[in-house]
Amino acid sequence: MSIDADALSQAQAFLANTWPGAQPSTALVCGSGWNDLNKIFTIRETLSYDEIPGLGATGVEGHAGQLSWAELDGVETFVFQGRRHFYEGVGWTPIAIPVHLSKSAGANSILLTNAAGGINENFAAGDLMMLRDHLNFMPGNPLIGPHDKVWGSRFPDQTSVYHPSLRASLREAAEQCGHSVQEGVYAALSGPTFETPAEIKAFRALGADAVGMSTVPEAILANAAGMKVAALSCISNLAAGVSPHPLSHEEVAETASRAMPKMQAIIEAFWPKIAAG
Ligand code: HPA
Repeated sequence: MSIDADALSQAQAFLANTWPGAQPSTALVCGSGWNDLNKIFTIRETLSYDEIPGLGATGVEGHAGQLSWAELDGVETFVFQGRRHFYEGVGWTPIAIPVHLSKSAGANSILLTNAAGGINENFAAGDLMMLRDHLNFMPGNPLIGPHDKVWGSRFPDQTSVYHPSLRASLREAAEQCGHSVQEGVYAALSGPTFETPAEIKAFRALGADAVGMSTVPEAILANAAGMKVAALSCISNLAAGVSPHPLSHEEVAETASRAMPKMQAIIEAFWPKIAAG
């Protein structure tokens, strides 16, 4: 169940061999609903996830499963369109590979994106929420297992997983293009079931503002590896019991696609800032 260190090395060797000139300074993971964010980038080269050893094709509808070596405003970036999820039953390795590939190619920051259910009653579907912190309710931690120095110390500090300067830059970027961004605590669960209304009520009492099935494992890993981490949720629906109707992946995709122009504008404004740190 722990991350397979050999698989990480193989993926890294494959990429170094395939794109020897790649020197990204940052990375982007496009989660549910964020796929079209790659349209604002100039793409140099593309690889399908199933070509990358240990990563494998994503099984989630709307996730392209493609890594692009790309550029935006002169900022060289690895864009991961789609992610592997814990609920796919594939363990932590395919979740860790995008973080490891980015870090080992030289990226010192990463933006993780996702779709999430809104728990905070001040949130509306279509809002964006910048993560201030998280609650890890996934069954385990990707760093359980033999200590591998690629992930820094045995006991990584998590006081500021979501980097304060990147959070300030994201807020500035949103203001610059006339949008507002919520800020809050993201609770991560394994899925694939959506939550029950009783669970949502409990998570609200515990301080969660939004809930989802991803992002936290990558944030734990990237922070441990010494990268600056930022994360943005598209509140694609109100969470179970807050929403008056049953939840579906279709609603998640639909709301996110309506929010896409806003997401693209904010990320375009944010990119020179993420590069500056
Ligand atoms: N719960 C969990 N994950 C999600 C949700 C939700 O309501 N919406 C989008 N991803």
